Amino acid sequence: MKIDILTLFPEMVKAVLSESIVGRAIKEGKVEINVINYRDFSKDKHKRVDDYPFGGGRGMVIGIQPIYDCLQSLDLTNAKILLTSPQGKVFTQKKAEELSQEQHIVIICGHYEGIDYRVTEHLIDEEVSIGDYVLTGGELPALIIVDAVTRLIPGVLPDDATTGDSFSMGLLEYPQYTRPQDFLGWKVPEILLSGNHQQIAKFRLKESLRNTYLKRPDLLEHYPLNEEEKQLLNEIIMEEQEKIRKKNS
Ligand code: ADE
Repeated sequence: MKIDILTLFPEMVKAVLSESIVGRAIKEGKVEINVINYRDFSKDKHKRVDDYPFGGGRGMVIGIQPIYDCLQSLDLTNAKILLTSPQGKVFTQKKAEELSQEQHIVIICGHYEGIDYRVTEHLIDEEVSIGDYVLTGGELPALIIVDAVTRLIPGVLPDDATTGDSFSMGLLEYPQYTRPQDFLGWKVPEILLSGNHQQIAKFRLKESLRNTYLKRPDLLEHYPLNEEEKQLLNEIIMEEQEKIRKKNS
């Protein structure tokens, strides 16, 4: 996969990309990422990219010309062009999975000043938001999208490493533990030490349901529970009500 990131802050983006799993994926050639400063495409003699807004008002607006010319310099056959913006559709694991199937993604980083709306209307395929809050620029959102997508590219993580991901199955992940078995009296659940794989799988499914029920009950509204899961969820609801009763008595 190829990803082009168009930004006014290339060093900020490159610093993050060189580290950890994404850095390794780049070195191993699993993903090619180009960070492009679209200021370099400005036709202004001072390389300015922003200007006063038509109609007046405070602040400045990033113009369309440098972004247009920057896009023109790329081979966009099969490219999906995204603009990071708080007005976009909120980025989800499902979106990350969809994007990981693309051959080429171009991410234009938005900017707090705002971007000429003709970029949104004519140059991009989708606006993407990473959540209902406003950041100063689209660099962090772009990096979040790149991170979430890159880890899903085959060969970037070991096989199976992403199958139980939170959200990918519609539920949150089950809790994980490692040594020591007992830390200051806080013990690892006994069942995980039993070696009984069937029981362990059932425990994990139940705790995945419990995590979702307690932390993100909204996800359960869209999750089609099978008979076993319905029964486990009933048990969980009773157990959690019992815990509350005990705490209050
Ligand atoms: N730019 C500023 N805020 C943003 C957000 N929440 N998502 C994507 N891009 C943004």
